[in-house]
Amino acid sequence: MVYLVPVATMALMAISVALILGLVKNLLTVEGEAKVKIVNDGNELVLPLEQNLMQALKKAGYDLFAQCGGKGTCATCRVKVLEGLKPEQITPAMLGPLSDKLRKEGWVLSCQISMKNDLKIELFKPLVMSWPKVEGKVAEEAPKAKELSPAAAKLRAVLPGFDCLACGYPTCEEFAEALVAGKAKIDGCYPGGKPVLERLTQAALEAGVKA
Ligand code: FES
Repeated sequence: MVYLVPVATMALMAISVALILGLVKNLLTVEGEAKVKIVNDGNELVLPLEQNLMQALKKAGYDLFAQCGGKGTCATCRVKVLEGLKPEQITPAMLGPLSDKLRKEGWVLSCQISMKNDLKIELFKPLVMSWPKVEGKVAEEAPKAKELSPAAAKLRAVLPGFDCLACGYPTCEEFAEALVAGKAKIDGCYPGGKPVLERLTQAALEAGVKA
């Protein structure tokens, strides 16, 4: 009989711990879901609240370039939010290295967004490596590159060619021309990082471009 007391105490303690753990789990679990409408192809995803947007897009088959892997430093995962994100909800992390022009246009880093409510977004086509098969229309191709000056062509040859807009110019060609004209900074290619900066510096030297 005397052994029953500690056994009962331990059982009570185990039940209490289980109840507390269950309570904590419930408090930490956010229930609910939100929709993401993708205007490029008309697709609509239903995601759990607090889900990371970039990961959700990738999981759904939109292979965003996302060069930095979600660290918020490359801007190649960016999406334009057309509806569902108020200015006061936008954090500095969501803007990361985006140029002022891109910020004004409504681009944000999808890797820094966790789902809070329904969103309507546009993907930047050149930075989506592959798309899921869905009914609907995918946006038109990016405009063709224009003729470049010989110096700009040398610089363009070492740029990634994703036309990601992270540098503030619509295409890598225009970024190269801006470098030649002394209007852009040599380290403006965020997605390319250090390897592209080194090659660009070398190409600028060879092309006689002051960088
Ligand atoms: S993946 Fe690089 S900024 Fe989002």
